[in-house]
Amino acid sequence: MPNLPATYVTTALRGGVVSLGASPFPQDALGDDTVVIKTDHLGICRADTKEILGSRDVMEDRGPLFGHELVGAVAFAGTATGFQEGDLVTLNPNITPTRTTGFAEYVFVHGTKEQLDQAVVRVPEPRLRDGVWMPEPFACIVHALGKLLELTRLPSLRGKRVGIIGAGCAGLMFAMYARHLGAVVAVFNRGEMRSAFARRQGILAEGESHSLADARTPAQQGRFDIVIVAPTIATTELLETAAGLAADGAVLFVYGGTRNGDSFPVGQVNIDALRRQERIESVRYRGKRIRVSGAYGCLRQDYEEGFRLHAEHPHAFPLEKLTSRRISLDEFPGRVMEIAAGAADFPGKVLITISPARTPDR
Ligand SMILES: NC(=O)c1ccc[n+]([C@@H]2O[C@H](COP(=O)([O-])OP(=O)(O)OC[C@H]3O[C@@H](n4cnc5c(N)ncnc54)[C@H](OP(=O)(O)O)[C@@H]3O)[C@@H](O)[C@H]2O)c1
Repeated sequence: MPNLPATYVTTALRGGVVSLGASPFPQDALGDDTVVIKTDHLGICRADTKEILGSRDVMEDRGPLFGHELVGAVAFAGTATGFQEGDLVTLNPNITPTRTTGFAEYVFVHGTKEQLDQAVVRVPEPRLRDGVWMPEPFACIVHALGKLLELTRLPSLRGKRVGIIGAGCAGLMFAMYARHLGAVVAVFNRGEMRSAFARRQGILAEGESHSLADARTPAQQGRFDIVIVAPTIATTELLETAAGLAADGAVLFVYGGTRNGDSFPVGQVNIDALRRQERIESVRYRGKRIRVSGAYGCLRQDYEEGFRLHAEHPHAFPLEKLTSRRISLDEFPGRVMEIAAGAADFPGKVLITISPARTPDR
């Protein structure tokens, strides 16, 4: 049996409140079908804060997302898992709901060999811990743009004008990847703080960064071949703004923030279902033909493509620069509750660094 502690620190989310405490290490959970990951770094995602607020629909097939962005090392691998102690891994939360929260020193993932092969993804960058970035949100972007190309039958984005609503983590990674695929990008953000961060970090050039108010001016109307909607909530107002940016025949690609039953144009296309089922539909909106589409989640191959892109094109994908703040696991409950309540707001990614291994206390 590997050197595992008698207790470990983990978090709980109950009734909208996040708490941290020591729990007995569940030795009886160490089955043949179990991988235990000792976490190194965790990312806070907007989906985590939505789950605190209860403003996110939880999909039954994959369970809550609270604590799903992580990198760490396998601390225990059951005999039927195909993993080895010490493997550097990350998690794909879109595969199995039988796992514990990532906001902890140890994460327990159970599944068949096939499920674990998809849910626990090996990290091929041994130095990732030095310049850490979160593989899962990037894999979702790789998946989404791949799906966009597939659904629109475009071989690349070469020469396309791509407008992006939201300069959060998702919007900035869309900008990196769309630019890499040959597009000219323009990112529109409501507030100045995230836009300024993106420019300061060299993620967006001056000419690529715009205010959301700018998106509603006549100069921007009908200019874009593709408009990606990536804010916290895809409100009707933001979808109308996106449709205004779209040229006749353009694609409006919905990535962030839809809920069960949401539609656009209102009463026409169920954009939540369309996004989760990754479909494309044509609509008429104010005299224009617009193809509405979307994507949801990611697969193991999207992680692998993400690692390849980052390794081969480090300047095009400065994913480490998305981190704006590092905190400890002890600070996490207070910070994440402040972020959820809107009392604190940080651009880019807030990372939690887990302190080096404690001495096993047994
Ligand atoms: N489809 C998928 O597979 C998938 C995967 C992962 C995440 N997502 C979704 O992607 C969304 C964005 O995630 P993220 O990581 O980029 O979040 P984030 O870093 O917190 O950024 C949120 C963005 O939304 C903007 N925003 C929030 N409320 C707004 C409003 N009322 N009007 C205009 N803009 C508003 C913010 O602008 P300000 O700077 O002005 O506040 C910011 O640009 C989330 O909803 C998440 O659930 C989807």
